[in-house]
Amino acid sequence: MWDSVLINARLATMVPGKARYGAIESGALGIANGRIAWIGALDDLTARPGALAKRIYDLDGRWVTPGLIDCHTHLVHGGDRAGEFEQRLGGASYAEIARAGGGILSTVRATRAADEEALFAASLPRLQALMAEGVTTVEIKSGYGLEPEQEVKQLRVARRLGESQPVTVHKTFLGAHAVPPEFKDDPNGYLQTMIGLLPRLAQEKLADSVDAFCETIAFDADQVARLFESASALGLPVRLHADQLTDGGGAALAARFKALSAEHLEYANEHGIRAMAKAGTVAVLLPGAFYTLKDETKPPVAAFRQAGVEMAVATDCNPGSSPVSSLLAMLNMACILFGLTPEEALAGATRVAARALGLGDSHGTLEVGKVADLVVWDIERPAELAYRLGFNPLNLVIRNGQRLHP
Ligand code: NIG
Ligand code: FE
Repeated sequence: MWDSVLINARLATMVPGKARYGAIESGALGIANGRIAWIGALDDLTARPGALAKRIYDLDGRWVTPGLIDCHTHLVHGGDRAGEFEQRLGGASYAEIARAGGGILSTVRATRAADEEALFAASLPRLQALMAEGVTTVEIKSGYGLEPEQEVKQLRVARRLGESQPVTVHKTFLGAHAVPPEFKDDPNGYLQTMIGLLPRLAQEKLADSVDAFCETIAFDADQVARLFESASALGLPVRLHADQLTDGGGAALAARFKALSAEHLEYANEHGIRAMAKAGTVAVLLPGAFYTLKDETKPPVAAFRQAGVEMAVATDCNPGSSPVSSLLAMLNMACILFGLTPEEALAGATRVAARALGLGDSHGTLEVGKVADLVVWDIERPAELAYRLGFNPLNLVIRNGQRLHP
């Protein structure tokens, strides 16, 4: 006997290669022990729904998608950077502000000043905003502590958010986000300190992956390679902020370490794209940062498609380059700004985002055996999820087989 069954559902399974969106019209989906136990056409159910499951959800033709996955956020941080927003509108660039000690370092000051409680309280509304749109899995990075105990504090807050809320949190250590003022003249010394922290993070399960910012205003390829070698030796998967503002060979570097994902990639080159395809590294597109920084160079979407690099779409929720807490808005921007199809955009926030977090076997599609994380929407067709801006058609969320909303 299943715990529940969804009937009269239109299922966007997001399984590739079949119908668009992997759709099953007039579908049914059985849930047992938090997993998807059965999926198919309603007519193929072997008995009356009431004989198969304790609880029936009659969805009256509503669409169901996998739970949304935001695979790139910096949502745990103190303070805001609305002042820099004004400066940028006045003509200052992101890199100029960073070089003058603002940017990431200004958020580092605010994050260090907040104790764990305050940081939790500041971050919770951003997480809840994502969850209100059907996000059931979220990645959260550190990178605003830039000092061992401060980085640990951020990762602990990320962990607590996942424990206290019905959402799966993937924790990423981004100690190599910027060089803190104390190490201004000794970036390699700083990097060594962060490398020294890795065994503890692995031991205490405080990080599920390791990220770095490979950029002229942050760390170069050799430095990132040293960090990644140590992470790989500890069995920690890696991902990389690559080629966002300049072509620093980040795509190829990420591929060399079989990174789960490489992010931004506006300036990624051909060689790097081919290497990513070979390594199976996901390209995480962040239209919120592109939009906010008024970037003019788009990520090479056509080249990704051609090479067979799969694309995820995420918010990059952070106080500087992407003050965004809406994944649905990012689906829209991925289509309008980068030319993704609505189906590619939705795959980027479900199936491909799961792969970017190393969760491809358990999350991201509606398939038997996968975790029963799913969202029911009041829409007539899946493209509506990318179509509107600032409108939330969420009807109900089921996570681990349990009903959450409303
Ligand atoms: O993904 N690129 C570096 N890191 C963030 C920005 C963080 C910030 O500005 O605070 C990003 O865009
Ligand atoms: Fe980022």
